Amino acid sequence: MLVSASKMLKDARAGQYAVGQFNINNLEWTKAILQTAQENNSPVILGVSEGAGKYMAGYKTVVGMVNGMLEELNITVPVALHLDHGSYEGAKKVIEAGFSSVMFDGSHYPIEENITKTKEIIAIANSKGISVEAEVGSIGGEEDGVVGAGEIADPKECKQIADLGVDMLAAGIGNIHGQYPENWQGLNFDALAQIQDATGEMPLVLHGGTGIPDAMIKEAISLGVAKINVNTECQLVFAAATRKYIEAGKDLEGKGFDPRKIFAPGVDAIKAIVKEKMELFGSVNKA
Ligand code: G3H
Ligand code: ZN
Repeated sequence: MLVSASKMLKDARAGQYAVGQFNINNLEWTKAILQTAQENNSPVILGVSEGAGKYMAGYKTVVGMVNGMLEELNITVPVALHLDHGSYEGAKKVIEAGFSSVMFDGSHYPIEENITKTKEIIAIANSKGISVEAEVGSIGGEEDGVVGAGEIADPKECKQIADLGVDMLAAGIGNIHGQYPENWQGLNFDALAQIQDATGEMPLVLHGGTGIPDAMIKEAISLGVAKINVNTECQLVFAAATRKYIEAGKDLEGKGFDPRKIFAPGVDAIKAIVKEKMELFGSVNKA
């Protein structure tokens, strides 16, 4: 059964580790991530962007697929199905469709409007036991049509949003979606420390998890980060493994053209990277 992300993130915050949010795009992604979580006895959050939801034929299809897998693959670790960077309308739709967690990303609105809209989503979500993530500041780069300026979050605004009763808070601290440019300055730990001071025990969320050096990940966890989002890295390893299979001409040998064979190396690559992240984040054996 899907669960809200609230308890798993409180436990992570208290236990000084982070739960990975891995974005899904299709059946292969979903199965690979769920099986890896089960094999490593780790809680996990499946992230669905609005674009990926559309690609997978809508939120109800996603809910049906994930619930089916939880049952038929005997997944017993805590799993949250979470809308990633949701709009106000998107958040309401996934709540109706049966998601167990939602991000309302109001970071592009003036703070007062972000507060008002976040409050409304919390009221709807809480009445159904669904967890809510909000965002302050912004994440640089672009993810699935969501573009951010990379504004460092203001700790006072973080406190205002945290006090509304969100379950987790994403704050811009120099993190960027996609691959980091060579001249990237790194995460702003002074800002993160101030945000942690302002928001107390609030589980903080680090977006743009792809390509952040391990030492920075560990430092972020020590400063209150309890959820880390990874998307691009799974896409990169999947694409590389698939390319290798095709370029080696494996699709031309025997029944190598069978999609189940073509996808297999990419699926294994996703499983390997998800396991690596779970070990780095410290969520192994925390289910
Ligand atoms: O919301 C999802 C993420 O922040 C993922 O970022 O694609 O850079 O790993 P990433
Ligand atoms: Zn993100």
